[in-house]
Amino acid sequence: MVAFLALAGYGLSSLVEEEGRTVCALSLYVSDKSLADRLAALFGSSRIAGARAFCRVHRERDWASRWKEGWKPFSLTRKFHVIPLWQESRDCPAGKSPIFLDTTNAFGTGLHETTRFTARIIDRLAGRFTSFLDVGTGSGILAIVALRCGATQCVGIDIDPGAVKVARQNLKANQLTCRLKACDVNDFRPRTRFDLVAANLVSSDLISFRDRLISFVRPGGHLVVSGISLENMDRVERSFALAGVHPDRVVKGREWSAMLFKSLSFD
Ligand SMILES: C[S@@+](CC[C@H](N)C(=O)[O-])C[C@H]1O[C@@H](n2cnc3c(N)ncnc32)[C@H](O)[C@@H]1O
Repeated sequence: MVAFLALAGYGLSSLVEEEGRTVCALSLYVSDKSLADRLAALFGSSRIAGARAFCRVHRERDWASRWKEGWKPFSLTRKFHVIPLWQESRDCPAGKSPIFLDTTNAFGTGLHETTRFTARIIDRLAGRFTSFLDVGTGSGILAIVALRCGATQCVGIDIDPGAVKVARQNLKANQLTCRLKACDVNDFRPRTRFDLVAANLVSSDLISFRDRLISFVRPGGHLVVSGISLENMDRVERSFALAGVHPDRVVKGREWSAMLFKSLSFD
Protein backbone atom coordinates (compact mmCIF):
# COMPACT_ATOMS: atom_id res chain seq x y z
CA MET A 1 0.00 0.00 0.00
CA VAL A 2 2.88 2.35 0.80
CA ALA A 3 4.38 1.49 -2.59
CA PHE A 4 1.02 2.18 -4.23
CA LEU A 5 0.83 5.63 -2.64
CA ALA A 6 4.43 6.35 -3.60
CA LEU A 7 3.66 5.35 -7.18
CA ALA A 8 0.62 7.61 -7.09
CA GLY A 9 3.10 10.40 -6.41
CA TYR A 10 2.12 10.93 -2.82
CA GLY A 11 4.95 11.82 -0.40
CA LEU A 12 5.22 9.48 2.57
CA SER A 13 5.96 12.07 5.20
CA SER A 14 2.38 12.53 6.43
CA LEU A 15 1.62 8.85 6.36
CA VAL A 16 1.09 6.94 9.59
CA GLU A 17 1.23 3.18 9.64
CA GLU A 18 -0.38 0.98 12.28
CA GLU A 19 0.03 -2.75 12.14
CA GLY A 20 -2.17 -4.98 14.27
CA ARG A 21 -2.40 -8.76 14.33
CA THR A 22 -5.16 -8.94 11.74
CA VAL A 23 -5.43 -5.46 10.24
CA CYS A 24 -2.86 -3.10 8.81
CA ALA A 25 -3.96 0.55 8.60
CA LEU A 26 -2.36 3.45 6.80
CA SER A 27 -3.58 6.95 7.54
CA LEU A 28 -2.77 9.87 5.31
CA TYR A 29 -3.25 13.32 6.80
CA VAL A 30 -3.94 16.00 4.21
CA SER A 31 -5.35 19.46 4.68
CA ASP A 32 -7.28 19.42 1.40
CA LYS A 33 -10.55 17.43 1.44
CA SER A 34 -10.77 17.12 -2.35
CA LEU A 35 -7.25 15.65 -2.47
CA ALA A 36 -8.28 13.17 0.24
CA ASP A 37 -11.35 12.18 -1.81
CA ARG A 38 -9.25 11.76 -4.96
CA LEU A 39 -6.70 9.58 -3.20
CA ALA A 40 -9.42 7.43 -1.62
CA ALA A 41 -11.08 6.96 -5.03
CA LEU A 42 -7.73 6.12 -6.64
CA PHE A 43 -6.99 3.63 -3.89
CA GLY A 44 -10.48 2.14 -4.14
CA SER A 45 -10.00 1.57 -7.87
CA SER A 46 -6.64 -0.17 -7.34
CA ARG A 47 -8.36 -3.47 -6.43
CA ILE A 48 -5.76 -4.37 -3.80
CA ALA A 49 -7.21 -7.55 -2.27
CA GLY A 50 -8.86 -7.01 1.10
CA ALA A 51 -8.10 -3.28 1.16
CA ARG A 52 -10.63 -0.51 1.63
CA ALA A 53 -10.27 3.22 1.80
CA PHE A 54 -12.34 5.91 3.43
CA CYS A 55 -12.04 9.58 4.38
CA ARG A 56 -12.77 11.13 7.72
CA VAL A 57 -12.82 14.87 8.36
CA HIS A 58 -11.16 16.02 11.58
CA ARG A 59 -11.64 19.40 13.16
CA GLU A 60 -8.77 21.76 12.33
CA ARG A 61 -7.47 21.75 15.89
CA ASP A 62 -7.66 17.93 16.18
CA TRP A 63 -6.29 16.58 12.97
CA ALA A 64 -2.59 16.92 13.65
CA SER A 65 -2.79 14.99 16.91
CA ARG A 66 -5.63 12.55 16.23
CA TRP A 67 -3.44 9.70 14.98
CA LYS A 68 -1.43 9.78 18.19
CA GLU A 69 -4.28 8.14 20.08
CA GLY A 70 -3.71 4.79 18.35
CA TRP A 71 0.03 4.66 18.94
CA LYS A 72 0.92 2.95 22.21
CA PRO A 73 4.33 1.84 23.55
CA PHE A 74 5.48 -1.43 21.98
CA SER A 75 8.44 -3.74 21.70
CA LEU A 76 10.47 -2.99 18.55
CA THR A 77 13.20 -5.63 18.90
CA ARG A 78 14.40 -7.92 21.66
CA LYS A 79 16.32 -4.94 23.12
CA PHE A 80 14.24 -1.87 22.33
CA HIS A 81 10.88 -0.57 23.48
CA VAL A 82 9.35 2.42 21.65
CA ILE A 83 7.56 5.00 23.79
CA PRO A 84 5.71 7.95 22.16
CA LEU A 85 7.29 11.19 23.34
CA TRP A 86 4.02 12.61 24.60
CA GLN A 87 3.30 9.55 26.76
CA GLU A 88 3.20 10.56 30.42
CA SER A 89 4.47 7.24 31.69
CA ARG A 90 8.07 6.56 30.68
CA ASP A 91 7.91 2.99 32.04
CA CYS A 92 9.94 0.49 30.07
CA PRO A 93 9.84 -3.30 30.59
CA ALA A 94 12.82 -4.67 32.56
CA GLY A 95 15.79 -5.50 30.38
CA LYS A 96 14.64 -3.26 27.52
CA SER A 97 16.05 0.06 26.41
CA PRO A 98 13.49 2.84 25.71
CA ILE A 99 13.37 4.81 22.46
CA PHE A 100 11.35 8.01 22.74
CA LEU A 101 9.74 9.08 19.48
CA ASP A 102 7.40 11.61 17.91
CA THR A 103 6.80 10.89 14.24
CA THR A 104 4.53 13.82 13.41
CA ASN A 105 5.44 14.61 9.77
CA ALA A 106 7.93 11.77 9.36
CA PHE A 107 7.70 8.07 8.51
CA GLY A 108 8.99 5.63 11.10
CA THR A 109 6.96 4.79 14.20
CA GLY A 110 8.52 1.33 14.14
CA LEU A 111 5.14 -0.36 13.80
CA HIS A 112 5.58 -1.02 10.12
CA GLU A 113 7.25 -4.29 9.04
CA THR A 114 9.81 -2.47 6.90
CA THR A 115 11.15 -0.49 9.86
CA ARG A 116 10.87 -3.37 12.32
CA PHE A 117 12.81 -5.80 10.12
CA THR A 118 15.60 -3.27 9.59
CA ALA A 119 15.76 -2.47 13.31
CA ARG A 120 15.99 -6.20 14.11
CA ILE A 121 18.81 -6.74 11.65
CA ILE A 122 20.72 -3.74 13.08
CA ASP A 123 20.10 -5.06 16.60
CA ARG A 124 21.55 -8.47 15.62
CA LEU A 125 24.66 -6.79 14.19
CA ALA A 126 25.25 -4.90 17.46
CA GLY A 127 28.93 -4.50 18.24
CA ARG A 128 30.01 -5.33 14.68
CA PHE A 129 29.91 -1.76 13.34
CA THR A 130 30.99 1.67 14.52
CA SER A 131 29.92 3.86 11.59
CA PHE A 132 26.33 3.92 10.35
CA LEU A 133 24.54 5.63 7.46
CA ASP A 134 20.73 5.91 7.49
CA VAL A 135 19.45 6.58 3.97
CA GLY A 136 15.92 8.03 4.20
CA THR A 137 16.10 8.50 7.96
CA GLY A 138 12.44 9.61 8.40
CA SER A 139 11.84 9.85 12.15
CA GLY A 140 15.46 8.84 12.82
CA ILE A 141 14.38 5.59 14.48
CA LEU A 142 17.02 3.44 12.77
CA ALA A 143 19.78 5.92 13.59
CA ILE A 144 18.72 5.73 17.24
CA VAL A 145 18.81 1.92 17.17
CA ALA A 146 22.24 1.91 15.49
CA LEU A 147 23.70 4.38 18.01
CA ARG A 148 22.39 2.27 20.87
CA CYS A 149 23.90 -0.81 19.20
CA GLY A 150 27.42 0.57 19.19
CA ALA A 151 27.68 3.13 16.38
CA THR A 152 29.95 6.00 17.35
CA GLN A 153 29.71 7.81 14.03
CA CYS A 154 26.23 8.22 12.58
CA VAL A 155 24.92 10.08 9.53
CA GLY A 156 21.29 10.30 8.41
CA ILE A 157 19.95 11.83 5.21
CA ASP A 158 16.44 12.45 3.97
CA ILE A 159 15.10 14.21 0.92
CA ASP A 160 12.36 15.72 3.10
CA PRO A 161 13.59 18.64 5.27
CA GLY A 162 10.52 18.17 7.51
CA ALA A 163 11.61 14.62 8.31
CA VAL A 164 15.13 15.79 9.12
CA LYS A 165 13.70 18.29 11.60
CA VAL A 166 11.68 15.53 13.28
CA ALA A 167 14.70 13.19 13.34
CA ARG A 168 16.78 15.93 15.00
CA GLN A 169 14.18 16.31 17.75
CA ASN A 170 14.04 12.55 18.27
CA LEU A 171 17.81 12.16 18.47
CA LYS A 172 17.90 14.99 21.02
CA ALA A 173 15.06 13.45 23.05
CA ASN A 174 17.13 10.27 23.28
CA GLN A 175 20.31 12.23 24.12
CA LEU A 176 22.11 10.94 21.04
CA THR A 177 24.13 12.61 18.33
CA CYS A 178 23.87 11.96 14.60
CA ARG A 179 24.79 14.21 11.68
CA LEU A 180 21.47 14.77 9.89
CA LYS A 181 21.20 16.33 6.48
CA ALA A 182 18.32 17.19 4.12
CA CYS A 183 19.68 15.65 0.96
CA ASP A 184 18.68 13.44 -1.96
CA VAL A 185 20.61 10.18 -1.98
CA ASN A 186 21.72 11.06 -5.52
CA ASP A 187 23.48 14.20 -4.28
CA PHE A 188 25.03 12.68 -1.17
CA ARG A 189 28.84 12.59 -1.29
CA PRO A 190 30.14 11.15 1.98
CA ARG A 191 33.76 11.70 2.95
CA THR A 192 34.16 8.11 4.13
CA ARG A 193 32.43 4.80 3.68
CA PHE A 194 30.38 3.19 6.41
CA ASP A 195 30.51 -0.14 8.26
CA LEU A 196 26.73 -0.41 8.06
CA VAL A 197 24.27 1.29 5.70
CA ALA A 198 20.48 0.99 6.01
CA ALA A 199 17.98 2.06 3.35
CA ASN A 200 14.27 1.58 3.91
CA LEU A 201 12.91 2.88 0.59
CA VAL A 202 10.47 1.63 -2.03
CA SER A 203 11.78 -1.18 -4.29
CA SER A 204 12.05 0.99 -7.40
CA ASP A 205 14.29 3.44 -5.49
CA LEU A 206 16.43 0.62 -4.09
CA ILE A 207 16.98 -0.57 -7.64
CA SER A 208 17.72 2.84 -9.10
CA PHE A 209 20.01 3.81 -6.17
CA ARG A 210 21.63 0.35 -6.02
CA ASP A 211 25.13 1.39 -7.12
CA ARG A 212 25.13 4.46 -4.89
CA LEU A 213 23.99 2.44 -1.87
CA ILE A 214 26.70 -0.14 -2.48
CA SER A 215 29.30 2.60 -2.90
CA PHE A 216 28.52 3.92 0.61
CA VAL A 217 29.58 0.62 2.25
CA ARG A 218 33.20 0.01 3.18
CA PRO A 219 34.75 -3.26 2.00
CA GLY A 220 33.71 -5.94 4.48
CA GLY A 221 30.75 -3.87 5.71
CA HIS A 222 27.01 -4.52 5.61
CA LEU A 223 24.06 -3.10 3.68
CA VAL A 224 20.44 -3.59 4.80
CA VAL A 225 17.71 -2.77 2.31
CA SER A 226 14.06 -2.76 3.27
CA GLY A 227 10.73 -1.54 1.93
CA ILE A 228 10.58 -4.44 -0.54
CA SER A 229 7.04 -5.72 -1.09
CA LEU A 230 6.93 -9.52 -1.40
CA GLU A 231 6.06 -9.35 -5.09
CA ASN A 232 9.18 -7.24 -5.74
CA MET A 233 11.65 -9.49 -3.91
CA ASP A 234 12.90 -11.28 -7.03
CA ARG A 235 13.26 -8.01 -8.92
CA VAL A 236 15.37 -6.43 -6.17
CA GLU A 237 17.46 -9.56 -5.60
CA ARG A 238 18.14 -9.93 -9.34
CA SER A 239 19.13 -6.29 -9.62
CA PHE A 240 21.64 -6.56 -6.76
CA ALA A 241 22.94 -9.86 -8.18
CA LEU A 242 23.79 -8.02 -11.40
CA ALA A 243 26.04 -5.79 -9.28
CA GLY A 244 27.66 -8.92 -7.81
CA VAL A 245 26.00 -8.89 -4.38
CA HIS A 246 23.77 -11.60 -2.98
CA PRO A 247 21.70 -11.44 0.21
CA ASP A 248 23.19 -13.12 3.22
CA ARG A 249 19.89 -12.97 5.04
CA VAL A 250 16.29 -12.32 3.93
CA VAL A 251 13.53 -11.44 6.38
CA LYS A 252 10.01 -11.98 5.09
CA GLY A 253 6.77 -10.78 6.63
CA ARG A 254 3.16 -10.70 5.56
CA GLU A 255 3.60 -7.96 2.99
CA TRP A 256 7.21 -6.84 3.15
CA SER A 257 10.74 -8.10 3.18
CA ALA A 258 14.23 -6.86 4.01
CA MET A 259 17.61 -8.11 2.81
CA LEU A 260 21.04 -8.02 4.40
CA PHE A 261 24.08 -7.97 2.14
CA LYS A 262 27.40 -8.48 3.83
CA SER A 263 31.11 -8.55 3.19
CA LEU A 264 30.86 -6.22 0.25
CA SER A 265 34.24 -5.63 -1.29
CA PHE A 266 33.70 -3.04 -3.98
CA ASP A 267 36.18 -0.40 -4.90
C1 LIG B 1 9.89 4.37 4.31
S1 LIG B 1 10.57 5.83 4.96
C2 LIG B 1 11.80 5.15 6.09
C3 LIG B 1 11.91 5.93 7.38
C4 LIG B 1 12.76 5.24 8.44
N1 LIG B 1 14.13 5.09 8.01
C5 LIG B 1 12.19 3.88 8.77
O1 LIG B 1 12.82 2.86 8.50
O2 LIG B 1 11.07 3.84 9.32
C6 LIG B 1 11.55 6.39 3.60
C7 LIG B 1 12.21 7.74 3.82
O3 LIG B 1 13.10 7.97 2.73
C8 LIG B 1 13.00 9.31 2.32
N2 LIG B 1 13.42 9.36 0.90
C9 LIG B 1 12.68 9.00 -0.19
N3 LIG B 1 13.40 9.19 -1.31
C10 LIG B 1 14.61 9.68 -0.93
C11 LIG B 1 15.79 10.10 -1.64
N4 LIG B 1 15.83 10.06 -2.97
N5 LIG B 1 16.84 10.56 -0.94
C12 LIG B 1 16.79 10.64 0.43
N6 LIG B 1 15.69 10.27 1.15
C13 LIG B 1 14.63 9.79 0.49
C14 LIG B 1 11.54 9.68 2.56
O4 LIG B 1 11.38 11.08 2.69
C15 LIG B 1 11.24 8.90 3.84
O5 LIG B 1 11.46 9.68 4.99
